[in-house]
Amino acid sequence: MTVVLGLVGVAFLVAGGWMVWWNLSCPELRWDWDRCDVDETRFPKEILWGVATAAHQVEGGCDNNNWSHWEKQTNARGQPRIKNDDKAGMACDHWNRYSQDIRLMKELGVKAYRFSVEWSKLEPRRGEFDDAAFAHYLDLCDALFEAGISPVVTLHHFTHPLWFHESGAFEKRENIEPFARFCEEVFGRLRSRVKMWCTINEPAVFATQGYFTGLFPPGRKDLQQTGEVLVNLLEAHAVVYRRLKALPGGAEARIGLAKSIFQFEPWRRASLLDWMVTGAVNRLFNDCLLDGLRTGKFRLHIPGLVRVKRSLPDARGSLDFVGLNYYSHLHARVRLDPKEPFELRYRQGDTMTDMPYVIYPEGFYRALHQVATLGVPIYVTENGIADAKDDRRALFIRRYLYAMHRAILAGCDIQGYFYWSLMDNFEWSEGYSMRFGLYEVDFKTQERRLREGAKPFLQAIRGGSLQST
Ligand code: FCB
Repeated sequence: MTVVLGLVGVAFLVAGGWMVWWNLSCPELRWDWDRCDVDETRFPKEILWGVATAAHQVEGGCDNNNWSHWEKQTNARGQPRIKNDDKAGMACDHWNRYSQDIRLMKELGVKAYRFSVEWSKLEPRRGEFDDAAFAHYLDLCDALFEAGISPVVTLHHFTHPLWFHESGAFEKRENIEPFARFCEEVFGRLRSRVKMWCTINEPAVFATQGYFTGLFPPGRKDLQQTGEVLVNLLEAHAVVYRRLKALPGGAEARIGLAKSIFQFEPWRRASLLDWMVTGAVNRLFNDCLLDGLRTGKFRLHIPGLVRVKRSLPDARGSLDFVGLNYYSHLHARVRLDPKEPFELRYRQGDTMTDMPYVIYPEGFYRALHQVATLGVPIYVTENGIADAKDDRRALFIRRYLYAMHRAILAGCDIQGYFYWSLMDNFEWSEGYSMRFGLYEVDFKTQERRLREGAKPFLQAIRGGSLQST
């Protein structure tokens, strides 16, 4: 009995000591904005400035993929899955209006455009490639070239063909092969035009939203499966990286992946339980993938909930650059409710965006350091704000760019920044309610109009200071 009590006591001391150490060594980073010289932020000339979109969100006519299928479904209570029962539909009609949209990019002054190719258009049936759809993307690349804008192509940005969806998609390890085949085909046909590639967009978002929160197709809530999808996505990335590198043009191409970092903090810094749940969510969402890329070993173990282990030697060294997608952070709090044992919340008093995200530029600074540990150049492949009233966008841009500038001064090798997004578009389960665009889109007339709040981004591109006007 005395021994047990002694052991419990020691365990408490260790846990308590660990917590104090954590609190002292990693307090939540907060800057005093009155003392930050945001107006004087300036960037090296070499930074590649760009904007980003994804096929399903802007193109229109993407009606042969998992998302188009999902948009027609209702949940268990008979309610639509997408806010306001929206469907991507015509979206921004970017498929037909890309020339006009490239003019908008020129007006901004960006030198790169990150977009995704729609797999369900390029390979509508397994093994059958659609030449006309390939011709479209070749034309798009040529038009970008004419405008002096470099294409950056994402091979998988949340959507894939129905045939792939129905065969179990990334739930099954054997499905990595058809994905890799598709990527080789795209690379082979576009490689003369495209020098920079992202294999997969945000594996952790795809896996957690599709298999943990159930907000994305296929709408499951199964943590073990989330882990399996995640490890398959990491393996898919590594396989695709190696295969493309081995193709003609592969050695010169720069190939990476777009990793989202969304930090979680303990709601109560003195609560060991909040710390534990925070650790678990950070592991799931951020760290197991970063570690997998760093070490070639994937490990996700949350006792009683998920256990996935795989050795992936090819994942190590599978990045010519890392893409960082960063938006915000959340706080985790343990609840005394077995149905919902923890919750993720934001702090009152922080400035909100229209999404349940607060403006937290310090987190961007931290995320840049997190991905810097991979030891490869960093491109910010997404960063932006949903702000329909356009009354926080300028502040967001100025402060996040300031954070990036500080990360550069601190030694992070940041080579590019892509704003999400060029224009308003279909925001997945949020439908058209979220307005992320530098350009506002009127979806009835398809008119685009530059938002006032975009101005600091234009100033940064032009090499000026980020002075507020
Ligand atoms: C990211 C997605 C992107 C967009 C932004 C707001 O998670 O990659 O498509 O929806 O969020």
